[in-house]
Amino acid sequence: MLDIDKYIAAAEEAVRQLEIPATPSGLYDPIRYTLQAGGKRIRPVLTLAVADAVAPDGRRRAANQAAAIEMFHNFTLLHDDVMDRADMRRGRPTVHRQWNEATAILSGDAMLTLAGAAMMKGCDEAQLRPVMELFNRTAMEIYEGQQHDMDFESRTDVTIGEYMEMIRLKTSVLLGCACALGAIMAGADSAVTDAFYGYGESLGLAFQLRDDYLDTYGDPATFGKQIGGDIACGKKTWLLINALAEDTTGTVAAEISDPSPREEKINRVRAVYDSLGLPQRCLGLIRRYADDAIVRLATVGLQPEAMDFFTRLAMQTVDRTR
Ligand code: IPE
Ligand code: IPE
Ligand code: MG
Ligand code: MG
Ligand code: MG
Repeated sequence: MLDIDKYIAAAEEAVRQLEIPATPSGLYDPIRYTLQAGGKRIRPVLTLAVADAVAPDGRRRAANQAAAIEMFHNFTLLHDDVMDRADMRRGRPTVHRQWNEATAILSGDAMLTLAGAAMMKGCDEAQLRPVMELFNRTAMEIYEGQQHDMDFESRTDVTIGEYMEMIRLKTSVLLGCACALGAIMAGADSAVTDAFYGYGESLGLAFQLRDDYLDTYGDPATFGKQIGGDIACGKKTWLLINALAEDTTGTVAAEISDPSPREEKINRVRAVYDSLGLPQRCLGLIRRYADDAIVRLATVGLQPEAMDFFTRLAMQTVDRTR
């Protein structure tokens, strides 16, 4: 196993190997703009690290799938930013702001197809079908999660159970898939593949809860996205669902039915979160899902070095600021 930083470098290298044509530039420039803007590369890091934990030459065998999963993730971001009316990502204007919505749609489409092509690369005959079935199933689940996410914007009765299933679909399954791809490409059996999927899935819940936390409490300079976007859109995050249930002042309900101007709305809702102790409780929950992720690896019989790696990765997710 390498250090986390080395896996990020390996993920960057895998992404650089993706071939993106030069013309028409209106289609491909936004793809380059997105892939070159940085990003944490957590999904390809998972693919490469899991592959290495399974086989000595794992990361070489899983390099195409690592790149493919990052390309797919970046495709979801182009469309997500249109859906969420988001202006900033990775410290830069989103594609639909830098160009326009039509560009975000079509360059996103191309990224999805390029991801599918990269996903097939380097698979042997026995791997091709499980890899593509996993990829297609995961993609469908993400679209379902994204639909729930949008549907929830106009509802005020969303439960925490519904929220957890929504974030499992829109976010966690992709981290699970990233892990399972590494396992499959490195030749793991189905029990080991499933255990790694479980790690990614639990980690994904912690990851999205942390994303929701940072959307309200992050530093825009490090987070790279505009703060308060979730509150502005009425996104049913863990914070907002609990605030709706517990706020006896009626402030949150009033801001949802008859909102103040953007900044005022964000400040008022955040003040309710603070008064209810929601940020601290949210952080506790993030920690619990990260701990769960580590427990899911118990059956794999990993080398201490690998166990240590996946533990550190989970703890980094708990503390992440970007
Ligand atoms: C953003 O993903 C979408 C979520 C699932 C929260 P990341 O937080 O991994 O974004 P990048 O790739 O690092 O920019
Ligand atoms: C991310 O949800 C889910 C997908 C992109 C599929 P968010 O909408 O919270 O992600 P950010 O905050 O825009 O990165
Ligand atoms: Mg979204
Ligand atoms: Mg979004
Ligand atoms: Mg978010």
